[in-house]
Amino acid sequence: MSAPASLEQILRASPVMPVIALDRLDQALPLAEALLEGGIPTLEITLRTPVALEAIRRIAKAFPQAHVGAGTVTTPEALRQVADAGAAFAVSPGLTRPLAEAAATGTLPLLPGVMTPAEVMTAMDAGFRFLKLFPAEQAGGISMLKALAGPFKDLRFCPTGGVTPESAPAYLAQPNVICVGGSWLTPRALLEASDWPAIRALAREASALRR
Ligand code: 3PG
Repeated sequence: MSAPASLEQILRASPVMPVIALDRLDQALPLAEALLEGGIPTLEITLRTPVALEAIRRIAKAFPQAHVGAGTVTTPEALRQVADAGAAFAVSPGLTRPLAEAAATGTLPLLPGVMTPAEVMTAMDAGFRFLKLFPAEQAGGISMLKALAGPFKDLRFCPTGGVTPESAPAYLAQPNVICVGGSWLTPRALLEASDWPAIRALAREASALRR
């Protein structure tokens, strides 16, 4: 068995990380298939719905070539649960000391959220080099990323929150952006309609974006 992908490899695998809130378990596999067929191998399934953990388990088993991550991981307990479910990485909206300690002692890579320079420094201190700027637009968007590039030139960000297909190219053009996150690939209306061709088309457009 090959070694698990590093967080950097996972974040480089796709210009856009789809942020997914899944209500129906029976949609997990067709959704993952549509994203993969559209050229998006990385998925973030948020722990915002009751079926999220089982969805991660099923997708990870059915599509070993995908990088299935868990989002909205806010506690050490949740980090352990998503690792047990087979997630390849975890994403959190912010960083707490207990979560940083659990990530340091566990095996699962964590992409922690930050919004201020002080939070960036706390995350750096805990050993993180890849950070999610969240919520990106509210934090100042591209001008915030430019400002952070001065003092924190070795860090790479995944801006998430308010990023759109229109704004994604400008985000991706920033040297300190490794990928962007967004929910626009999996809109609720298309999920409710199980419209996999439309989601595949959105994925195809997103996968064509370049850093
Ligand atoms: C979220 O937490 O839902 C993500 O940040 C996605 O935000 P978006 O819906 O603005 O893309």
